[in-house]
Amino acid sequence: MTTISLKNIVKKYGDLEVVHSINLEIKDAEFIVLVGPSGCGKSTTLRMIAGLEEITAGEVMIGTRVVNNILAKDRNIAMVFQNYALYPHMNVFNNMSFSLKLQKVPKPEIKERVNNAARILNIEELLNRRPSELSGGQRQRVAMGRAIVRNPDIFLFDEPLSNLDAKLRTQMRVEIKQLHQRVKNTIVYVTHDQVEAMTLGDRIVVLKDGRIEQVGDPIELFQNPVNTFVAGFIGNPPMNLIDGTITKNGENLKISFPDGFKLPIPDKPDAKINEGQPIVMGLRAQDIFLEEGSNDIPEDWKFDAEIIVTEPLGSETYMHLDVGGLKITGKCEGRRVVHPNEKIKLTFNLNHLHIFDAASTKSVY
Ligand SMILES: Nc1ncnc2c1ncn2[C@@H]1O[C@H](COP(=O)(O)OP(=O)(O)OP(=O)(O)O)[C@@H](O)[C@H]1O
Ligand SMILES: [Mg+2]
Repeated sequence: MTTISLKNIVKKYGDLEVVHSINLEIKDAEFIVLVGPSGCGKSTTLRMIAGLEEITAGEVMIGTRVVNNILAKDRNIAMVFQNYALYPHMNVFNNMSFSLKLQKVPKPEIKERVNNAARILNIEELLNRRPSELSGGQRQRVAMGRAIVRNPDIFLFDEPLSNLDAKLRTQMRVEIKQLHQRVKNTIVYVTHDQVEAMTLGDRIVVLKDGRIEQVGDPIELFQNPVNTFVAGFIGNPPMNLIDGTITKNGENLKISFPDGFKLPIPDKPDAKINEGQPIVMGLRAQDIFLEEGSNDIPEDWKFDAEIIVTEPLGSETYMHLDVGGLKITGKCEGRRVVHPNEKIKLTFNLNHLHIFDAASTKSVY
């Protein structure tokens, strides 16, 4: 059972506190992703779990054992970094078996473990090559192989794919996911790329400025972001986030935008919004689409709009739109050809409307 538990973890460099009392329970065999912008404390947190960085305050537990004072080499953890630095003068087999030789593991067992890892990673043919004779993706796999042969309880990854080109990254993502499905170790994976986080993680931890903003599975974070930061960070393109004010129109609450545009707010029992409140409206591009005569959408969720710029991606096209002065991004099916300056009728699916309080940035609807 390899659970990891972070209890009020603090990291200070001198007087500068960079990780502020983080609490997190990681389950056995869970694939957890730490994601956030540069400098938010992802690597520092990972390195405290690994034992490469002293913990200023709080407790790290692996399984039932507090590991604060246990050396990195005694935590049975394998870490794969962005700069995986293979030994250039050794072939793949020797690179992968190096740590086992140091541990004086018997030769036949070394051979078996390396071959096993090579099979998992599909690099059996490459065992006699040197790193200079490998592609970037193959080198990355060797670096992972080096970690796998050690048979660790926990894998820690720190942006392992950021040196690879986009296509290779997509391919390696699938391989890492398959690896996890096969070996079922606990994995903590750091990235600043929200797509990587969404595609890999069983759960995602969104960090900002050394604090956890939200923890949840990918779809939970996408559908129910707790604040504007998570709403804007998770999902591509980012959620439309637009300043407005709650106003009243007879009995019904609406959102009024500075340029005069108004949006109805569907009734919701647990909404914490009041007339006059400054808010940020959130709606994803996928919920703003061409009106095609769909019957189950109320008439007052349909608006005249003008297309400003189109971004065709093949499977879908993003449309940068002007809706009565409101600048917003919508989406249409890739085969539907749309043009700049085209006047269109739009549907806003307000069943997926988000409202955040402008002052606290927290979700209030
Ligand atoms: N040795 C150090 N001394 C002082 N400050 C440090 C040290 N190492 C990191 N920091 C600071 O701690 C904060 C967190 O750094 P960390 O490396 O954990 O960020 P990160 O989230 O991994 O960012 P990136 O995505 O750029 O790798 C940053 O503000 C960084 O400047
Ligand atoms: Mg980092």
